[in-house]
Amino acid sequence: METKLLEPIPEELQVAGEIIRAGGLVAFPTETVYGLGADALSAEAVARIFEAKGRPRFDPVIVHVASPEEAEALWSEVPPLARRLMERFWPGPLTIVLPKRDVVPDIVTAGLPTVAIRMPDHEVALGLIRAAGHPIAAPSANRFGKTSPTHHEHVLEELAGRIEAVIAAGPTPVGIESTVISLVEEPPRVLRPGGTPLELLQEVVGELRADPLQVKRGPAPSPGTMRRHYMPQTPLFLLEGGLPGDGWEELPRERCGYLGFTTAKRGFRHSEVLSGRGDLREAAARFFAALRSLDSIGVAAIVAEPVPEEGLGVAIMDRLKRASQGVARLNERSVWIKRT
Ligand code: TXA
Ligand code: MG
Repeated sequence: METKLLEPIPEELQVAGEIIRAGGLVAFPTETVYGLGADALSAEAVARIFEAKGRPRFDPVIVHVASPEEAEALWSEVPPLARRLMERFWPGPLTIVLPKRDVVPDIVTAGLPTVAIRMPDHEVALGLIRAAGHPIAAPSANRFGKTSPTHHEHVLEELAGRIEAVIAAGPTPVGIESTVISLVEEPPRVLRPGGTPLELLQEVVGELRADPLQVKRGPAPSPGTMRRHYMPQTPLFLLEGGLPGDGWEELPRERCGYLGFTTAKRGFRHSEVLSGRGDLREAAARFFAALRSLDSIGVAAIVAEPVPEEGLGVAIMDRLKRASQGVARLNERSVWIKRT
């Protein structure tokens, strides 16, 4: 199959909309990351998403809508809190989980009785949903287990030849996936930290549960939140303070890549800096591309510096902890790693 590259202009969005209506797959930009979209009301079309991504099993996917009304047509219950959240955060990187209606095929929710919905804050995404005339189911547009694509080039690297089209709209502004909140539980629970900071959510929700990293394998309330979900190929280690002790493995800096928050480090093969001025928003926007570039240079390990766990830093640290295989310490010449 030849993958069409479409421009983010109205005529080409119509073409993309027709592909979706015909049961095809179109990768499209949102404010967070690129999504791999299919008609959310067609089980067959959604099944093709899993095939293209090479997902070994079905995971629930997020349904993207162009208005709160469209979401209300897919949920069977819409509590007042859901309306307040939509009003405050939509369009934007907040995904809300509520009981589904029968029109939503089971494959979209992987058999769960709930469906996760969001309205993206991106004109191209909204234009595509309107052109398709149906809500669009879309996971991130990467092969299974790989990092999320924040540029159409990333999508092409992994999915060219496997999907009908990609809308080429350049980098995505937020850069980290949406925050997923479940309103099925009381109090509401954050299933995945993301582009909407928890501090802002708390202002609207009041009491809010946010689980620490789930280390359990097997069926989870939100399968995409399993540990080891966001894996670069290269082993990643989280930098901590202190000197290496017994049982640590030494690597020359030259054989490692460094992912810094505000500064690079000497001696590494390559360093990526997320934000020289320490801005977490800029850091989130660069995060996946930086990880991808460090993953592509053939180093033995990536050392990642932690970022402050506030605002979007919570989502960045969540992804780093999931990707990490252990911790790293530095001395003048070397990196010392310990697998955990
Ligand atoms: O920003 C985003 O959320 C991007 C863009 C494309 O919208 N999408 C995205 O999709 O990151 P994906 O499939 O990579 O992650 C979807 C997350 C997973 O953690 C999944 O388990 C969870 O949402 N999820 C989906 N439906 C759910 C449901 N019914 N109940 C609980 N969790 C659900
Ligand atoms: Mg994903």
